Amino acid sequence: MPGVSIFKDVPLVPTDHVFHVNQQYKDDTNPNKVNLGIGAYRDDDGNPMVLSVVSRVEKQLAEEIAAKTLNHEYLSIDGLGSFTQAACKLCLGGDSPAIAENRVCGAQGISGTGSLRLGMEFLKKFHCSDVVYLSKPTWGNHKKMLLGTGYKAENIKEYRYFDSASKSLDFSGMCEDLKNAPENSIILLHACAHNPTGVDPNQDQWKEIAEIMKRQNLFPLIDMAYQGFVTGDPDKDAWAARYFVSQGFEVLIAQSFAKNFGLYNERCGNLCVVTTDNETAEKIRSQLKAIIRPMWSNPPNHGARIVATILNQDALNTEWRETLKSMAGRILNCRKLLHEKLRLLGTPGSWNHLEDQKGMFGFTGLSVKQVEFLASKYHIYLLNSGRINICGITSANVDYVAKAIYDAVTTCNA
Ligand SMILES: Cc1ncc(COP(=O)(O)O)c(C=O)c1O
Repeated sequence: MPGVSIFKDVPLVPTDHVFHVNQQYKDDTNPNKVNLGIGAYRDDDGNPMVLSVVSRVEKQLAEEIAAKTLNHEYLSIDGLGSFTQAACKLCLGGDSPAIAENRVCGAQGISGTGSLRLGMEFLKKFHCSDVVYLSKPTWGNHKKMLLGTGYKAENIKEYRYFDSASKSLDFSGMCEDLKNAPENSIILLHACAHNPTGVDPNQDQWKEIAEIMKRQNLFPLIDMAYQGFVTGDPDKDAWAARYFVSQGFEVLIAQSFAKNFGLYNERCGNLCVVTTDNETAEKIRSQLKAIIRPMWSNPPNHGARIVATILNQDALNTEWRETLKSMAGRILNCRKLLHEKLRLLGTPGSWNHLEDQKGMFGFTGLSVKQVEFLASKYHIYLLNSGRINICGITSANVDYVAKAIYDAVTTCNA
């Protein structure tokens, strides 16, 4: 018979906002409900997508297991070598001098989150600065991960990023904050498709950012969660990360294969570290393994094996790139469609930002009141920040969503 729990005074943590919105959507029985809150790709029927190249490879892997040519033995602490090498190549480019010079080290992480956390744990132990700058705003988990790693709250700073008036990059604010950052600070950058704003620097702006960071000796920690989701071409989307490497930076890049391979629950990621020489790369690898061993000991196989198989075979790689292009194309099309519908309805304000912003997310500029109005009157769910998942738009619901936004904007003043 259970008695009084020794944990009875453990405080209840409120549900994370994103998951709360998702639950509200699930609990809503209205047939017109729309989920614009989730952070995952959806097809034009509003369904999660399993890439056909992925499911074919999964079938092949199952056959290999049945034939006992594959098994479920542990991977090594730093993961599946054919995966981490292919992942670093995808990140840095097949012709990367850093790879040719053997000064890159890849370690498999638990998707983007785990890879980023691995990078933070490493920096906390071995980087000379305890100060980390995040974009304002940034993905909600960044700060929690830094706090979890042991960075002090007062050392987690923000650089200006989003200008809410123009709904675009506050480039001068960002540059000024970077210029004023203490030397050696760690700067967390989004490689592309910034979450939550959808606002990315252009190439000239990236060059200036890199220049400032070089002058100030600032260290880039790059979160690459959406490679391929901006242009449909993973090489183009890696431009900024590759530019930093070309400028001689040492850099940590956390890659996720949740989005671009649709492998959300397989938790497949890689931490790609670029350093100055092979000896240092191997020392870093040994330390990453020392961090991983008491955390998850060694990573899961399935997602990594799928990604490695696809990236390492030309025909499969080409097919994956085609699929990625069509996914990014659908996102662009949804942006255009929603913008066009809002414009035709004469919705007050400019909605150009819907098309100017990049990747899966749109920072609409809708206020909390307008967000609540959309949920209560139209059963349309999005984050309080006004962030929408553009993929939640489908051919079937775009008219409904546009009319609802028109109503929200004309009925409730921000
Ligand atoms: C900016 C950013 N970084 C990292 C992640 C990590 O994703 P995952 O751990 O699912 O790969 C996400 C997911 O939403 C994200 O938006």
